[in-house]
Amino acid sequence: MDKLLISGRASLKGEIKISGAKNAALPIMASTLLAPGVHTLKRIPRLRDVFTMTELIRRMGGSVHFDGVCIIDTTKINKFEASYDLVKTMRASILVLGPLVARFGKAKVSLPGGCAIGARPVNLHIRGLEKMGAKISLEEGYIFATARNLKGTKIYFDIPTVTGTENLMMAATLAKGTTVIENAAKEPEIVDLANYLIEMGAKIKGAGTSILTIEGVPELKPPSEYEIIPDRIETGTFIAIAGACGADIVLQGCRIDHIDAIILKMKDAGITFKETENGLRVIGSRRPQAVDVKTMPYPGFPTDMQAQFMAMMTIANGTSIIKETIFENRFMHVAELKRMGANITIEGNTATVRGVKKLKGAPVMATDLRASASLVIAGLIAEEETIIDRIYHLDRGYEELDKKLIKLGAKIKRIK
Ligand code: EPZ
Repeated sequence: MDKLLISGRASLKGEIKISGAKNAALPIMASTLLAPGVHTLKRIPRLRDVFTMTELIRRMGGSVHFDGVCIIDTTKINKFEASYDLVKTMRASILVLGPLVARFGKAKVSLPGGCAIGARPVNLHIRGLEKMGAKISLEEGYIFATARNLKGTKIYFDIPTVTGTENLMMAATLAKGTTVIENAAKEPEIVDLANYLIEMGAKIKGAGTSILTIEGVPELKPPSEYEIIPDRIETGTFIAIAGACGADIVLQGCRIDHIDAIILKMKDAGITFKETENGLRVIGSRRPQAVDVKTMPYPGFPTDMQAQFMAMMTIANGTSIIKETIFENRFMHVAELKRMGANITIEGNTATVRGVKKLKGAPVMATDLRASASLVIAGLIAEEETIIDRIYHLDRGYEELDKKLIKLGAKIKRIK
């Protein structure tokens, strides 16, 4: 299992390129199952979760060629299954459920099970498909779904679930009639997926708002090619790195309009921003100011940025109150940050972070994707050496984060 060795503070400076958005790549790759033919996707990031989605599509009979551009041919899909051994490594595998039922009328998808950050049920996905006429049974940890043909209906989400919105939007594109999804999630990744589906011939209105209207069509066709959006969470992660280390870095190719809530909070923390012709220059101050944060569905402050923001707050001037409202157990990074000298107390879903002068390097362990990013930030702050174990979590969601940091001057080494 790989480890990351970070040999203390370094002054980071320079320019890095923001990769394609992981959480846009995964649903868009799954959506290729809806339209037989050759799909050509650009800016797909080379990271573990994308390789897992590639394996899923290959096992179903599709072909995937991935060097620079990602070419997916779903003409010969002849298996309609997502097996547990893949789903247990990537919950987003659930995104093949909607497309398989919509195009082939059947699917066998392993229930994703929980993960480090929470129970993460998929009841809203299942209930929505049932409302569209799918017959669903849960046996031996698998979802068995069949549908002669899905029909348009009205669906209301008690919680604006991101992949739930994506699954049902994809299923509705081939349903008979019109589907309305109320209290839909509004993330930019959902808009990107909707744009790709529309390029394939789908009829979708309201993507990015809480009311989605999809008018079913008889079939979809792959468009010529499509470039996915850049990753707003990778962008936010590098902004937190700049804030934590007083760095001056340029983030090339990011979408500033996707990160309003992040920029607002980071400005309060004392970071300055300058737009460049194709990106954003981020300048951290000598020591960040403490700022309170509460995670909310988009366009609020993203839960996927909570751990990274907390790492920056460990050495801030003052006390920061961080409230996690999306997942029930997304404070796994706190124990590790405290081993590095952070002063954090947790009360339910609220963490109180009292800024300390400095962190001490230590051997720590990553527990989930964004927790591992927060440990990298803490390692860049600490004077001494930090060794981060289980960094496969990091590799699941970031494209060569360590290489990008080395390019900025960080003293980081990957130990096999
Ligand atoms: C997506 O997960 C993202 N993953 C997550 O990013 C992100 O943290 C999350 O949205 C919230 O923004 C992808 O897009 C691949 P949800 P998802 O369904 O769709 C509850 C990362 O770091 N819920 O919006 O699984 C659920 O338990 C990952 O890149 C139900 O109760 O999240 C949670 O409390 C981590 N029933 C809340 O809704 C359901 O059927 C939000 O979950 C579905 C969800």
